Amino acid sequence: MGHKIGKPICFGSLRQSAVKSTRRASVPLSADRYCSTHTSRTCSAPPKHQINNKPSFVKEFSTTNNIMSLHVKARCEIYPRTKDVKRCPVPDDKVPWNVDFLEYAPVEFTSATVLSQPEWADPVDPSGIEFNCIDKSNNVDRRSYEGDFAVIDGYPRNPRGRTGVTGRGSLGRWGPNHAADPIVTRWKRDDKNSKVLAHDGKPILQFVAVQRRDCGEWALPGGMVNPGENRTATLMREFGEEALNSLEATDEQKIRINKVLFDFFQAGHTIYRGYVDDPRNTDNVWMETKAINFHDESGKGVGAFNLHAGDDAADVQWMDIDSSLKLYASHIDFIRSTVDHLKAHW
Ligand code: BGC
Repeated sequence: MGHKIGKPICFGSLRQSAVKSTRRASVPLSADRYCSTHTSRTCSAPPKHQINNKPSFVKEFSTTNNIMSLHVKARCEIYPRTKDVKRCPVPDDKVPWNVDFLEYAPVEFTSATVLSQPEWADPVDPSGIEFNCIDKSNNVDRRSYEGDFAVIDGYPRNPRGRTGVTGRGSLGRWGPNHAADPIVTRWKRDDKNSKVLAHDGKPILQFVAVQRRDCGEWALPGGMVNPGENRTATLMREFGEEALNSLEATDEQKIRINKVLFDFFQAGHTIYRGYVDDPRNTDNVWMETKAINFHDESGKGVGAFNLHAGDDAADVQWMDIDSSLKLYASHIDFIRSTVDHLKAHW
């Protein structure tokens, strides 16, 4: 889930929309030509009702994945895990960079932890970084599932538009920060091992949900992709650590866990890959993920494992899926697509 320190994978056909610029300048954090570099906490706020009304241009944001559109969580009022870092409000119609927004005055924010440059974070100055490619010197994948993104004055620009904050916030990498999310599912069964059907006659699906320690929200047991690590390795590692507490397992248990997980994680169905509407995103950094469904049809493999929360997870459970679920970031969208894929109850 968090930042931990492993071959890059191929990206599918991606939308090529943004203009690449390699201009560099010493002035930091100007994410569009209208941004200022100040750290003011005030700017002209649009009326509240404008923030969530879906405008007609929403389609402009659809990717090949077609799950998420206009980012909303990336415009949440207060930046996560801060008390007073208030985003400059960005009304829906001002999100796209190609729409003029002369009053736009984003707040600049990079957390003290990120500025201290732990091993998972980039240098303060991104001018030495090559974007839109695999950065071989650091073994970091700097490509976006959204296609080439713009780099303005040396600073990468969020491909989904304005967020009201510049800098890196609490994310370590300039540009895309890659994660991977395993959606591990089984059918809910009764004492006689029959599938439990909902009122609509469809079987109820369960997935492995973890409760995140950082915000208390229920989520997929995903995590950040380590340098050089392929996505399957990230998925297995995160699932093992958070849902099976593999970090504290005995050697014998570890061998058994790894054997079952290795086989199970070979055949997955990709549910989503692309930008994530994450509250940590800024104009210069953003989350992307690949969410893959691994389904245990018989419930006798991973579906029969006893779950034990570990690492960044405070709790773990096989959670019933229906339309009332509330989950972290965009995870509910991934679950909804999985339900459609497996023709389960919603
Ligand atoms: C989480 C993933 C999530 C991603 C984007 C990562 O920190 O571990 O589960 O999909 O952020 O929100």
